[in-house]
Amino acid sequence: MKAEAPPQAADKVSRKELIELLNEDLAREYQAIISYVVYSQVLKGAEFMNIADELEKHAAEELAHALMISNQIDYLGGMPAVQPKPVRTSEKAREMLRFDLINEGETIRNYRERVRQCEQLGEYAMAEHIREILMDEQDHQIALATALGEDVPVVKDPPNHAETKE
Ligand SMILES: [Fe+2]
Ligand SMILES: [Fe+2]
Repeated sequence: MKAEAPPQAADKVSRKELIELLNEDLAREYQAIISYVVYSQVLKGAEFMNIADELEKHAAEELAHALMISNQIDYLGGMPAVQPKPVRTSEKAREMLRFDLINEGETIRNYRERVRQCEQLGEYAMAEHIREILMDEQDHQIALATALGEDVPVVKDPPNHAETKE
């Protein structure tokens, strides 16, 4: 009997592609550091005081993530990127929190995919490091959604996930 193709076989990336994808992740971590540094200091209003303190903690965690991802890129023989993804700003507290929530969702979607890609390359330790980062990102998402008085959004894989290959 012929063996079935493993699930999400189309996701399989080369080590070189993984370096590029991790550099995208790193650019998102830089973006997160910058936005949390700024938002934690400018967020005003009594109702947002607790979350402002929380965002300051997020900033430190995003820095730890950036260091971890850079370490993995170096391990793979790549050069860590230096450019952040663009940071959006707003005068409005709720809008700032909304931007963060959207970005955390995008980050979670990417790291879930990265865990699968690392495992397909046999990079199980790297997958484990990324799982640990994912736990923090999910906590960030919960904190932001709670501050906005909303349910935690469901992070969906992109459509035709198994079929698409970029
Ligand atoms: Fe992060
Ligand atoms: Fe985060």
